[in-house]
Amino acid sequence: MADSSSGQIDHVLIEERLFPPPAKFTEKAVVASKAQYEELYAAARDDRDGFWGKEAQEHLHWFEPFDTVCQWQSPNAKWFVNGKTNASYNCLDRNIDNGLGDRVAILWEGEPGDTRTLTYRELRTEVCKCAEGLRALGVNQGDVVSVYMPMTPELAITMLACARIGAVHSVIFAGFSAESIADRNNDASAKVMVTADGLYRRGKVLPLKETVDEALAKSPTVEKCLVLRRIGQDGVSMTEGRDVWWHDVVETQIGDLPAEPLDSEAPLFILYTSGSTGKPKGILHTTAGYNLWAKRTFQWVFDHQEDDVYWCTADCGWITGHSYVVYGPLSAGATCLMYEGAPNHPQEDRFWDLVEKYKVTTLYTAPTAIRAFIKWGDEHVEKHDLSSLRLLGSVGEGINPEAWMWYHEKIGGKNCPIVDTWWQTETGGIMMSPLPGITSTKPGSCTTPLPGVIPEIVDESGQPVEPNHGGMLCIAQPWPGMLRGIWGDEKRYAEQYWTMVPGKYLTGDNARCDDDGYYWIMGRIDDVINVSGHRLSTIEVESALVSHEAVCEAAVVGRPDDLKGQAIAAFVTIRDREPDEELKKELRLHVRKQIGALANPDDIRFTASLPKTRSGKIMRRLLRDIAAGHEATGDTSTLEDLSVLASLKDED
Ligand code: WTA
Repeated sequence: MADSSSGQIDHVLIEERLFPPPAKFTEKAVVASKAQYEELYAAARDDRDGFWGKEAQEHLHWFEPFDTVCQWQSPNAKWFVNGKTNASYNCLDRNIDNGLGDRVAILWEGEPGDTRTLTYRELRTEVCKCAEGLRALGVNQGDVVSVYMPMTPELAITMLACARIGAVHSVIFAGFSAESIADRNNDASAKVMVTADGLYRRGKVLPLKETVDEALAKSPTVEKCLVLRRIGQDGVSMTEGRDVWWHDVVETQIGDLPAEPLDSEAPLFILYTSGSTGKPKGILHTTAGYNLWAKRTFQWVFDHQEDDVYWCTADCGWITGHSYVVYGPLSAGATCLMYEGAPNHPQEDRFWDLVEKYKVTTLYTAPTAIRAFIKWGDEHVEKHDLSSLRLLGSVGEGINPEAWMWYHEKIGGKNCPIVDTWWQTETGGIMMSPLPGITSTKPGSCTTPLPGVIPEIVDESGQPVEPNHGGMLCIAQPWPGMLRGIWGDEKRYAEQYWTMVPGKYLTGDNARCDDDGYYWIMGRIDDVINVSGHRLSTIEVESALVSHEAVCEAAVVGRPDDLKGQAIAAFVTIRDREPDEELKKELRLHVRKQIGALANPDDIRFTASLPKTRSGKIMRRLLRDIAAGHEATGDTSTLEDLSVLASLKDED
């Protein structure tokens, strides 16, 4: 069934399979009965402030109490008004005060096989040293620190050190290009940058500092650059007066800096993500509400138990790493595995080797990884004892039922619940997910909302749709973990999220709710595509292509891809050049340089012109069909020149 208004395709597959939680799991689950969930859900819905006020008192440390739970004047929310807390304190000191100082916080393994273990007490010392080092470099409360680092403990340490002194971290995934780093530094007016000499990826060294040097040449606000020695190769260029080594500035500190009491609404971090326009937006999260959301959702969804070894495979460069590698699990006193490298180095069984070695109980990964494992073959899994696992999670995109079944059977041995968690950078933490002790799961559905989440599916006039009908997914009530804004762009924040359906948060996803009240995410309503679980705006990729001198015009769409979920297909018109393989190569390189390897187009097609509406808009809907190898369907009545369509098809 085609939904002509948005060009999205409705689900045609109706999934009937139902997987109840294993009885043994339910017995000691954090949420152990449907009645308990219903009570929590009703309390959060009917007495929002009473519910969250109690939660915040119980689950965060307060230097000074808050006087109002939620001040909401759409689109602006303030939570736990006038309270003072600190996310680093909640992740470290609070646990140490509760007798968990000697518990392992981080079990870390580097790609080459080097390992480190940090207890909560040891982690606090490292965080304090880093905070002292940052202060010595002139970082004050409210300053923005850009972080471009490998998945080493120092990445988490830097984030927590910023939180400790009230600096705002802006973590940039270490696969982005120098251009992308500079854009983010400039947008946020970053004062200090933290990076490393390099990182290991599939046995090779990526020279991070070189990329940062290129970025810093275009980042006038950055005064200092702190460099971790991860690789230890000679010849790293250090700019006099700007660049300093971690081992000189951080490791020499005492490591006992008390956490700064910070306002509940003090900015905690900015994280850039793609929206429907070309410019990435800096999503802003603040201290108390975000911290509480990350912690409670972690405890509920991952059913956290004392003896768990929890592993979230996400990189801290993404929101999943922020909320479920750092803030959620550490606030909850969990023992977390952190791994630096690729899942297929030295071999395709690296993840399963790690699960066996560290006796991982809870594994949280992405469908794109699961699809890669399926492709690599079951023999890599079968070599290992995975019997320590008790719970599996998925995030980043919908998990197709086949991948779900494989995850369930091959990794979970048919007795681990799977939590398919739906959420976004903007939501701060998980919004919809099974609760593993009580929810019967359906492969491909993120099931039901967590307490405090009031989803609503509406049509284009903002009216709720009937069950089983697709529509735009909104959230009808503010929640503690919600974004507080787009850095430096109040207008865009209001327009993007709160205007189309007035007073409700527009997620940008299409969804449907079935007769059992289970939600099914159906993809984006805007021009955002999801490549290997990472959000990219088609317009960003188009802008990168058009900035090449040979390109006149470019249109980028997603097409289905077995491994990546969506692949990037680019239609390009050119001038003064031959449309040959050489140029395709050049364009790919150009996009990598502009954005980073994750935006590399999979297909490039040269065309004489692009299909447009009479008002001049590129008809991406048609291009999507063509890129997927389908007949272009749907309405072509507004197409300016029908012959364009014929010639695009002829190119196959
Ligand atoms: C998609 C990642 C289906 C969705 C945490 C959302 C999902 C976007 C799921 C956010 C899921 C994430 N099922 N789709 N379980 N999880 N998405 O900001 O389109 O990187 O809007 O946050 O990913 O991506 P983001």
